[in-house]
Amino acid sequence: MKVLVIGSGGREHAICWGLSLSKKVSKIFCAPGNAGIGEIAENVDIGSTDIENLIVFVKRNNIDFTIVGPEQPLSLGIVDEFRNNNLLVFGPTKHASQLEASKEFSKLFMKRNNIPTASFNSFTSYNEAESFLKDSDLPIVIKADGLASGKGVRVCFNREEAFEFLKDVMLDKVFSSSGEKVVIESFLEGEEASFFVFSDGENILSLDSSQDHKRLLNDDMGPNTGGMGAYSPAPIIDEETRKNIINEIITPVFEGFKREGLEYTGILYVGLMIKDKRPSVVEFNCRFGDPETQPLLYRIDSDIFDLFYMTAIGKINDYKLKWKPKTSVSIVLASKGYPKTPITGGEIKDLNNINLSDSEFIFHAGTKLEDGKVLISGGRVLNVTALGDSLQSAIELAYRCVEKIDTTNFHYRSDIGKKGLLKNS
Ligand code: AMP
Ligand code: GLY
Repeated sequence: MKVLVIGSGGREHAICWGLSLSKKVSKIFCAPGNAGIGEIAENVDIGSTDIENLIVFVKRNNIDFTIVGPEQPLSLGIVDEFRNNNLLVFGPTKHASQLEASKEFSKLFMKRNNIPTASFNSFTSYNEAESFLKDSDLPIVIKADGLASGKGVRVCFNREEAFEFLKDVMLDKVFSSSGEKVVIESFLEGEEASFFVFSDGENILSLDSSQDHKRLLNDDMGPNTGGMGAYSPAPIIDEETRKNIINEIITPVFEGFKREGLEYTGILYVGLMIKDKRPSVVEFNCRFGDPETQPLLYRIDSDIFDLFYMTAIGKINDYKLKWKPKTSVSIVLASKGYPKTPITGGEIKDLNNINLSDSEFIFHAGTKLEDGKVLISGGRVLNVTALGDSLQSAIELAYRCVEKIDTTNFHYRSDIGKKGLLKNS
């Protein structure tokens, strides 16, 4: 099989890596890819939202199957376009992708289907939103309705901050049309975790748990980022909590999809807030998480190509998902200046000369190859991933691996996974 992966991050490197282990995959293409992906796949110089040219490329190269990584092409309808051209593709349709692309769409769906989530109001009028905020409880959460690369949400602890963010979004339009509508919701207390479900349109397969670290600095301080590290499984989701997630969220969500005629294929990412073993939904995404994909796929012991392929052809029930009985941890090395103004262009010296054991892997995100040198080309640059017999050993291995890298141009958190250790003790 010839497979095309769309995207250029650590998530897509992990997907390509997983595909490269499968005997069923003869060739991997990635559009546009990165330096690490280029070592196992052929990078294709087509942007991930250039749907027209992606279709031309797939037809011209007789590609059998396409996996879409990021949300932007999904929300633009890449799956519908591929299907119209009789091309096999992994991901939800444009309509189903609204679950991520419109916060209001997903909140209304949850309300109709009694899914536990924060109470909310949505506004298209700045004046109405402002007067609502004057009397609201604090903290309060303001969200731009549309896609904003993870930057469109602010948890506001005082009213000044809330008015300022509302003004940025609705009047100064810092997220352009994504901020024409805002959702204002109550603050949920607890600890966040991520839960991924594969759906073939009829049946579903839930993955093991994982946990991201969204804040820039240790101890969950500093601004929100795309994610500074992740690990799997996450002890916060113990057996009882997992049952609650399935019974109170996953089952009613997929029943709701059926009842409402919303065909969902691909991955549903359920961002959770967990308090006293009770889960609530913080958000839905219609794709894999980044960096959660890296430790999750690194733990899978069955054919990763089949996981995506059998989902896409409607045979997920025939897939036997096997996990390595291990814990994996992935640490994000971000460029200096990330998330505000990442400094790019610097060389990562000797990256390809590092000795890695079978339990370590460096997934690339914002890297590019130029004249034989690996250069920094984005905010999150490398995802140093390790597999251990316990969370403690996976953390130690991953940080020892970081020490092998020239980190002059990077900053990173030194406490990835620590939260999980506290739970275990
Ligand atoms: P979202 O893009 O909706 O996931 O929001 C980004 C981040 O904001 C989440 O990962 C949480 O850390 C935080 N957040 C969003 N909604 C809430 C909420 N209702 N209560 C507390 N924190 C929230
Ligand atoms: N790890 C957060 C995200 O993928 O949205």
